[in-house]
Amino acid sequence: LRCVLVGAPVQAGAGRRGCDMGPSAYRAAGIAEAVSDLGFAVIDAGNLEAAPWPAPAHPNGAIRNLPEVAGWTATLAETAERLAADSLPLFLGGDHSLSAGTIAGMSRRARAEGRPLFVLWLDSHPDFHTLDTTTSGNLHGVPMAYATGRSGFAGYFPPLDAPVDPRRVCMFGLRSVDPAERAALREAGVRVHDMRLIDEEGIARPLAAFLDEVAAAEGLLHVSLDVDFLDPGIAPGVGTTVPGGTSFREAHLVMEMLHDSGLVRGLDLVELNPFLDERGRTALLMVDLAASLLGRRVLDRPTRSF
Ligand code: ARG
Ligand code: MN
Ligand code: MN
Ligand code: MN
Repeated sequence: LRCVLVGAPVQAGAGRRGCDMGPSAYRAAGIAEAVSDLGFAVIDAGNLEAAPWPAPAHPNGAIRNLPEVAGWTATLAETAERLAADSLPLFLGGDHSLSAGTIAGMSRRARAEGRPLFVLWLDSHPDFHTLDTTTSGNLHGVPMAYATGRSGFAGYFPPLDAPVDPRRVCMFGLRSVDPAERAALREAGVRVHDMRLIDEEGIARPLAAFLDEVAAAEGLLHVSLDVDFLDPGIAPGVGTTVPGGTSFREAHLVMEMLHDSGLVRGLDLVELNPFLDERGRTALLMVDLAASLLGRRVLDRPTRSF
């Protein structure tokens, strides 16, 4: 299979500047070499550019950079839908608003194949605000609400023709959830696993249960990995650090299980802020995690060993 690297230097959705340097940092950290060492053909498609989307002003005056984020959403949806037809796209972000586009596009691709799309969301935040409920106004807080078809985006974001069923969205790592998001997650039926659940049950069993379900439904799986899924002690290069995150070993285990499942069709690497990183260590860790997802392993093992 062919891997296509797609730079998405989006920072309009984040509260601080620097995510636009993310794609360059991944390239400097050796993402292309790491992927090709695993036996993939690699194409670096360079960085995308987005034309602003003519969005009107929104009554929620806190919202920042709406036309820019909506423009990225349109461009990324088109790109994801097209590339996923015959390649494995790796989206190099860029802040998490970019997943509004990648998930919308992957969902159109799944529909074309007559299969359901599932999303594994690895993040300390659910990013489940609507344009009406966000109080920060930072649009990296809304992509999951858009992609699942929650109300209030019509007329502001590009039309969403294949909303993802929220019950096919599985979140791991949550530890910063706003009250409006908490209520909406419950109501929508999103499968949520906070850090308490990971402490109590470990990460492997609940993840295996989800992957079994995707396989049984013959689903197509998209993975969205936010740097702040990880503990800030190992991944400082992000604008929204939240203490108590996933460990190095837990994160690699998730990636190795994803590889063994054979289900992954697309990957977002988001929220890396190289301006806040320390000597590239967060970029290097994200590259290593992507490599684990693509099959790097310590020893050979029988498949589905979990
Ligand atoms: N819920 C908070 C907000 O709406 C934090 C969102 C953080 N999202 C992210 N992708 N870093 O501002
Ligand atoms: Mn996020
Ligand atoms: Mn986050
Ligand atoms: Mn974040």
